[in-house]
Formats: sequence, structure tokens, C-alpha cells
Amino acid sequence: MFCGNHASLHRTLLSFQESSATGERMSDEEKYIRQDCPIVHGIPMVSAFSSNWERIDNFQSRPEDIVIATYPKSGTTWMSEIVDMILNDGDHEKCRQAAITNRVPMLEFAVPGKMPAGTEQLAKMPSPRKVKTHLPVRLLPKSFWENGCKVIYVARNAKDVAVSFYHFDLMNKLEPHPGTWEEYFEKYMAGRVSYGSWYDHVKGWWEKRQNYPILYLFYEDMKEDPKREIRKVIQFLGKNLTEEDLDRIVYHTSFDIMKENPTTNYRMIPQSLMDHSISAFMRKGIAGDWKNHFTVAQNERFNADYEKNMAGTTLRFRTEV
Ligand code: PPS
Repeated sequence: MFCGNHASLHRTLLSFQESSATGERMSDEEKYIRQDCPIVHGIPMVSAFSSNWERIDNFQSRPEDIVIATYPKSGTTWMSEIVDMILNDGDHEKCRQAAITNRVPMLEFAVPGKMPAGTEQLAKMPSPRKVKTHLPVRLLPKSFWENGCKVIYVARNAKDVAVSFYHFDLMNKLEPHPGTWEEYFEKYMAGRVSYGSWYDHVKGWWEKRQNYPILYLFYEDMKEDPKREIRKVIQFLGKNLTEEDLDRIVYHTSFDIMKENPTTNYRMIPQSLMDHSISAFMRKGIAGDWKNHFTVAQNERFNADYEKNMAGTTLRFRTEV
């Protein structure tokens, strides 16, 4: 069971509540609500994250850092919980002592004047730090490559990402409003969404894995056989866990459990930023939901565009399991 007095989850909540208490600070928050994405190094970026980008470019990694990199909505939170549980030898009570946003801070996260930036959280964290990022490969701070840090990349098929991202943008007010599904579909196909083109992201990281310690995994494989995929992560991290530990990790990182876990379901974020009554962060957690949203015509156009964009890569996705 979750204990409400855990310090770091409370700190997150308090910082939101304090800031909501004064009109002046509210306006800080409002500056970032539903803003268009400014372009950072050629990529549309969440407005609140975009200022003072030197903090990202000049970020100092540590050799033991473990990076969890994804295009948004590809299973980041799922992998974050898996990695944290592995590092804690499957002890879920330990993991539940803090919100996932504090256990695995997001490198580029920032709401200036409102909450500690990801870089500030990370500077205070003991090693091994777990670092979440959605940055495309060429924007990852070079210090991570220099230190040979391990990276776990999770990719999810483009169609389910589109549907998940659309629902996320409806409920997450730090993102521009997505408009109708039809409007969003066009923007997504053109890469005019935060973090840019899905194609550039998945292909860029796929190429990079040839020369760097990157474990490249797929959301659909994790759905098909979570135990098999978690084993790969355990091995990549050089950990030795018992079969019982592994079973506990599989159980506690299942969609149904994480949806009810207040440290992983993002309900700790106040409604002014994420409105779960519009759409839950832990929404469906399946492969193939795109079929409930794509029209036949959209699917045909998407497939044609997909062929063009994926020509020449060995990277293959499944759109159902
Ligand atoms: S974010 O905001 O980019 O960090 O979001 P991210 O965590 O990458 O992706 C959210 C989607 O992942 C689903 N999810 C899971 N699926 C299966 N099992 C588990 N344990 C799990 N945890 C999160 C979540 O429901 C979002 O997908 P959709 O399709 O919207 O349900």
C-alpha cells in the first residue's frame, strides 16, 4: 500500500500547492499553459522546457548513470519502474517511497519559477542515477557518450504512439492543445509535435546502438512477454536477481498495478497541469488501439508515408501483438 507521508512525493505535491496559493506564481504557471512549441536545435520543444537550454547541452553525466530514452508515449514510465525495481532487487516497498518523477527525473523537464528542473533534481541524486529523456539522439548531452553511459531505448509503433500522444495532449496542459483527432493526425504525420518526427527519433537511436551501449527494446515485445524483456534489462544492467525477484517485478510493473500505484499513475500531478478527467495518463496500455481511431483513409495515407520514411532501415515494428 502507498504511504502518504513519503517525503519526496509530498515535496512534489507541496511545491505545486504552494505555487497555486499565490496569484503571482499562478501566472508563472499560466505562461506555459497550452503554448506552441518553440524550436530548439531544430526540434519543436515543450515551451516550459525550452529556455536556458545550455543546462542540457552542458549537462555533466556520471559513468554510472542509466538513461531511459524514448519518443513520448512509448513506455517510458513502464521502463522507469522496471529499472528502478531491478536496481532495488524487486523490493516494491522501497520503490513506492517516492513518485516516479523523483526516482527517475526527466532530464529536460522544467517549469521555471515553479518546480525544480530535471537537471537540478539530478545534480542532487546519489548514483546510480536513472535519467528519463525524450530527446532525439543528436540532442542528448555529449557527456553521456563521453562517459559510455548505458542507455535503454524503448520504441513503440508509430500508430499507437499517435493515439496515445493525442490523448496525452488533451489532458497535459504543458503541451499545445491537439485540436481534433483529424487535425492532430496531420500534425503528427508532419512531425509538428513536441520532440519532432517519430521517424527521426526511432531511426536515429537505432543507428546509434551500433557504436554505443544502447539496449533497444520494443513496447510490443514487452506486452507480448514482459518477463523475457525484463530479463534483457537485468542482464544489460549486470544484475543478478532470483526468479522470485523477477516474478515480483513482472507483477508490480503490469499495467493494472501501475495504474493503481499513486507513485506511477501521474495522479500526483495537480489537475491544473494534467487533467485525468479528460484522459488518464495510464490510459489503455495495449498494442493496437490505433484501430479504434484511424479511419480507413487515414490508415492508407499513413501507410504510404510510413513506407517512404522507413525505406532503407532495418528497423521493424509490429502494430499489434
Ligand atoms: S510519457 O509521458 O511520454 O513519459 O509517457 P510514457 O510513459 O512513455 O507512455 C505512456 C503510455 O504507456 C502506457 N503504459 C503502460 N503500458 C503497458 N504496461 C504498463 N505497465 C504501462 N505503463 C504505462 C500508458 O498507458 C500510455 O499508453 P496509452 O496507449 O495511452 O494507454
